[in-house]
Amino acid sequence: MKKLSNRTATFTDSVIRRMTRVALKYDAINLSQGFPDFNPPEEIMNRLAQVAKEGPHQYAVTFGAANFREALARKQEHFSGVSVDPASEIVVTCGSTEAMMAAMLSVCNPGDKVVVFSPFYENYGADAILSGAEPIYVPLVPPAFDFDADQLEAAIKQEEVKALILCNPSNPCGKVFTKEELQIISDLAIKYDIYVITDEVYEHIVYAPSQHQYISALPGMKERTIICNSLSKTYSVTGWRLGYVIASPEIIDRVKKVHDFLTVGAAAPLMEAANVGLQFEDSYYEKLQETYTHKRDLFLGGLEQIGLNFTRPQGAYYVLMDISEFGYEDDEQFCIDMAKRVGVAAVPGFSFFKEDVRHLVRVHFAKQDATLTAALDRLSDIRTRLR
Ligand SMILES: Cc1ncc(COP(=O)(O)O)c(C=O)c1O
Repeated sequence: MKKLSNRTATFTDSVIRRMTRVALKYDAINLSQGFPDFNPPEEIMNRLAQVAKEGPHQYAVTFGAANFREALARKQEHFSGVSVDPASEIVVTCGSTEAMMAAMLSVCNPGDKVVVFSPFYENYGADAILSGAEPIYVPLVPPAFDFDADQLEAAIKQEEVKALILCNPSNPCGKVFTKEELQIISDLAIKYDIYVITDEVYEHIVYAPSQHQYISALPGMKERTIICNSLSKTYSVTGWRLGYVIASPEIIDRVKKVHDFLTVGAAAPLMEAANVGLQFEDSYYEKLQETYTHKRDLFLGGLEQIGLNFTRPQGAYYVLMDISEFGYEDDEQFCIDMAKRVGVAAVPGFSFFKEDVRHLVRVHFAKQDATLTAALDRLSDIRTRLR
């Protein structure tokens, strides 16, 4: 048989999704892959039931149903203060995952480079391989996950650099970039003429006093920012696969074509049902923040009582737990043992870092309080079960 493609030969499976399979195997509470175990808002589910009878059930316009794009544009304008034309500046995709892939394929040629902060969301590595771009990593240094502006400039000024990927709020470290940090990034993006591809799926999950700032709103950034986002986390619909790209008409024209040939379109009935969520008042987003702030405090308070060391997120719903005290050299083996013997699943930290980091594992708290309490109960035994 002839060899399969070189481009995909270096792929591994996703470590995050592998850990969900480990959780299932050992019947562990799954704090690995980031998705809630509670339902989306009632209004969205009720509308889905109606849409099941009324339709639409056939293909929507390839770049997204018109009413859905209009609602997305209004919501984005409301929160970011930047105008968005629903006809020429949005493409609806199958999740932010497709949004990022379509953005990368639209921007990068093989041989181009993209700057990525480390730690990073695992998918960016695969996106880079598929689009032919080479990632250059700039460290976010714990405990505050700050970056060094000179190091960032040294990375961005390399001639082949086409774009920087900005995950804000960040998965896995929970960093919310300040306006001053975004200004440094935008100054460099303008100076060296690169695109900024954002991943803002956690824009509404931010803990006071941190606030989500939109880099696209900074002067000179609208035309060079490619926003990737989705409804997955904001409306607890990770299985619906609804995402979008927002960018200038020139960029969106390309993204529309890439998207058309990749997937044709997002699910028409789900766009129609989720539209209800896009109409929610500000109070919905305030309540979402309250809910996640409560969950964060509950979970972190429990970890503190157990005496574990961990990062305190400013946004998103992940915690990096320090496992140094358990003496494992292999964080993946630690996660397997933890699922098996403690009954809680986590993601090994190595999959998020360019640096050789093996002493961290990622857990998340997007779960019902009862699930979090049960997980904490199991974790309270971790020292007897893993030593
Ligand atoms: C930073 C980040 N980007 C993208 C995604 C995937 O989003 P979607 O479900 O919209 O594809 C996730 C999912 O966990 C994520 O954490």
